[in-house]
Amino acid sequence: EVWNPSGKYRVVSTKPMPGTRWINLLIQNDCRLEICTEKKTILSVEDIIALIGDKCDGVIGQLTEDWGEELFSALSKAGGKAFSNMAVGYNNVNVDAANKYGVAVGNTPGVLTETTAELAASLSLAAARRIVEADEFMRGGLYDGWLPHLFVGNLLKGQTVGVIGAGRIGSAYARMMVEGFKMNLIYFDLYQATRLEKFVTAYAAFLKASGETPVAWKRASTMDEVLQEADVISLHPVLDKTTYHLVNKERLAKMKKEAILINCSRGPVIDEAALVEHLKQNPMFRVGLDVFEEEPYMKPGLAELKNAIVVPHIASASKWTREGMATLAALNVLGKIKGYPVWFDANR
Ligand code: DGY
Repeated sequence: EVWNPSGKYRVVSTKPMPGTRWINLLIQNDCRLEICTEKKTILSVEDIIALIGDKCDGVIGQLTEDWGEELFSALSKAGGKAFSNMAVGYNNVNVDAANKYGVAVGNTPGVLTETTAELAASLSLAAARRIVEADEFMRGGLYDGWLPHLFVGNLLKGQTVGVIGAGRIGSAYARMMVEGFKMNLIYFDLYQATRLEKFVTAYAAFLKASGETPVAWKRASTMDEVLQEADVISLHPVLDKTTYHLVNKERLAKMKKEAILINCSRGPVIDEAALVEHLKQNPMFRVGLDVFEEEPYMKPGLAELKNAIVVPHIASASKWTREGMATLAALNVLGKIKGYPVWFDANR
């Protein structure tokens, strides 16, 4: 699909993206926009090299693509100076290779913070109250009357929520769980989460002053402390060499037998094979997963487990957010072409 064929700058988007704001932004700024409408979900390096062609000023790409040496070299040869991932995570981008070929990289933080935290909160509630199992039971025609033991789950109020990685999304999730469900908080991050700390300090003081049930909170000095103490644990680190298989067999064994584990970050943060084994051995342990180690696949056995809720990487999938991500990705590419700043987390 080609927009503004006579535009001076050739910009390629490897996928159609939601909304029209990003399209208007590019075509009103003298870009010829080419959107790949190929049906196949995941484009290969060869597919993208063909899209880049001989002349290309910038590319908007997706987290399913492998942006390494080959693609940055092809983009640079075509005169390209800018690449933006339509995602906040950029573990699919080899930033050193981009720097080597003089291509600026952008990502799309901010606009997906609350949306992603809301999905982590939804999975936490769905796991705690066994909503998916209960829905299947109902649709299966198995409900034959109210019973005292039917789908008994956990009350979150008064339990402890554990957050690993208290950046933008982890902090937003922590606030939702503390304020919304009056959970106690324990979190671990290599850096101090100043805004989160200010919030929980003020909120705990407010509850105390108004005579409501207080909430407790603390910053853990090790990740294992969170795993041992929390009832619901949500993972929000970036994926890099240091966080690959952060949650492994040994760490799973440290968690409470009835804990709930949520992952809306990146699949390889959990050793998924070890998780499947752990879920089999501990039927009261529950997980809510939005991401998987080798997307789009799940490790064998996971899909059959009643104590796992699985959704297809939809944490940022609200209309407002996806349009915002598309707009930010377009602004990043346009920014570089026009000489404005490009938003990229790693540069800040
Ligand atoms: C991201 O942005 O990194 C998410 O995984 C997709 O929204």
